[in-house]
Amino acid sequence: NNPPWPAFRGYHTYSFANATMGHRLPTILGKAIDDVVQTLNELSDEDMIVDLVKCIERMASLKEELTEHALLRPIVDDGEADVALWNKEIAKYFRGKDFMNAPWLFAEAYKYRRLRECFSISKHWSTYDVFFRQKCDTFSRSNDAVFELSTRFCEPFKQDSKQSSADNLESLRLMFLELTQVCLWGNSTDLSLLINMTEDQIKALQSTGGEALAETEKNILGNHMARLWEVVRDLKRDSLDGTGGRIDFVLDNAGFELYCDCVYADFLLQSGLASTIYFHGKRYPWFVSDVTKKDWEWLLNSMVYGQLFPKATAQEKEGLKRLGLRWKKYVQEGRWVYEQHPFWCTGYTFWEMRNEAPDLFLHLSKSDLVIFKGDLNHRKLTYDCAAPYATSFDVAIGPMASSPGAPRVCSLRTIKSDVVVGLGSAGDGDGEEVGEKLDREEPGWKISGKYAVVLLSEGRPG
Ligand code: F6P
Ligand code: MG
Repeated sequence: NNPPWPAFRGYHTYSFANATMGHRLPTILGKAIDDVVQTLNELSDEDMIVDLVKCIERMASLKEELTEHALLRPIVDDGEADVALWNKEIAKYFRGKDFMNAPWLFAEAYKYRRLRECFSISKHWSTYDVFFRQKCDTFSRSNDAVFELSTRFCEPFKQDSKQSSADNLESLRLMFLELTQVCLWGNSTDLSLLINMTEDQIKALQSTGGEALAETEKNILGNHMARLWEVVRDLKRDSLDGTGGRIDFVLDNAGFELYCDCVYADFLLQSGLASTIYFHGKRYPWFVSDVTKKDWEWLLNSMVYGQLFPKATAQEKEGLKRLGLRWKKYVQEGRWVYEQHPFWCTGYTFWEMRNEAPDLFLHLSKSDLVIFKGDLNHRKLTYDCAAPYATSFDVAIGPMASSPGAPRVCSLRTIKSDVVVGLGSAGDGDGEEVGEKLDREEPGWKISGKYAVVLLSEGRPG
C-alpha cells in the first residue's frame, strides 16, 4: 500500500532532505544543547546538575551519530506510549539503515524521538523541553500581529440584524475566507526554518491586513478554498440545531501559529459553522516548534495572566485577556478539546494511520472536517515522495482519501519542503507547467514558505 513514487531520502544531493539531514538537524541539536547549558548554569542542586549533565552527554552523542551517519538503533523503553510503534517500524523497515539512507521523513522524526530519549530516561528532567524558550520568545516578539487580531476579534461575533440573511451569509463567507488565510499563513513562522530571522522579518511575514491577504492569495498554488467554504456552510445548514459540525485541527506550531488557529477556531464556533473543535497536539517536543500540551496551556494562560507585552496599551492588554478568557471557557465547556495521541509523534506517514493507529483513524472518521496544519503534516499525508506536481490531492494522500471511513481532509500548508502536489487542481492551469516554471525562475520556491496550498479531499463514508 505504497505510492508509486520514491520517498525522499537524505542522500538525494541538492534536495532539502539532504540539507536538513546534513546541516539543519546538527545545527538544531547544537542550539538545543546551548539551551540546556543555560539551564544547567542556573542550577544549584548537585543531584539535578549531575542528572542534567548526563542529558547533555546523550545529546552530544546523538549529534555525533547524526553527523557520522550512524546506524539507527531501537528506542530504549522509557515508558512512552509510542515505544512499541517506534520499534516495530525500526525493525520492520529500517534495520541497517542510517540517518542518510532511511527515508527522510522517518530519519528526521527518529532524531526528535532520540532527543526525547535523552531526557525521558533521566531522573529529574523527563519533561524538559529544549525548545520551550524559543517558542515563547517568538510569540512575545509577534506583538503587532497578535494585537491586530485580538483587537479585531475580542468582541463576540454578531451577525448584523439589519442585513438580509443573504447579505449575512455573504459577510460570513468573506470572513471565513479571510480567516482561513490568517490560519494558513500563520504557518510560515516556523522556528525550525526561521532560526536567524530578525524581528522585522518576522513582522513582515505576519502582517494580516486585507490588502496583504488579497496579494497572498495569488501565492496559493493549489487552492480549494471556494469548495472549503461550501463544506463548512453546509455543516451549519445541515446540523439539527444550526450550530454546525465537528471540526478537528491537527496542529503544527506553537506560539503565533497556534494563536491564529485559535482565532480561526473561535470564529468557526461563534458563527455556528462548528459546534465542537478537537485540537490534536504532540506529547513531547517535536520538529522544534510543534505544539505540546504545555505550549497550549502557556498560550491561554499568558493571554489572561501574562505580562509578555510591556509596551502594549491598557486597551490592547484588556482585549487579549478577554479573548483568552473566552477560549478558556470553551475548554471548560468541552467545546474545545485538546488531545495528544501517541501516533502523531512517530515516523509513520498518514498512509499507515488506519493500520498502525486504528483507534485514531476511527476517531477522526467521526469528524466532519479534519484540518491538517503545516508542512510536516503535509509530508505525512502525501508520503513525502517525489509525486508529480499535478497529482490530485486524493491520489497523493492514498488511504486517507480512499479507505472506508476516511474523513474529509483539508491541508493548510505553506510550502517548506520538496513534496508539492495538487497544482492546477482548482482548474487554474496546467499544474506541471506551474511547478516547472517556478523551478526555472525561482529556485528555492519550495522551501521559502512564500507559496502555499489549500487542498481538500472529500473522504469516503465508512
Ligand atoms: O525539517 C524540515 C521540516 O520537516 C519541513 O517539513 C519544514 O521545513 C519544517 O521541518 C517544519 O515545518 P512545519 O512546522 O510547517 O511542519
Ligand atoms: Mg512544525
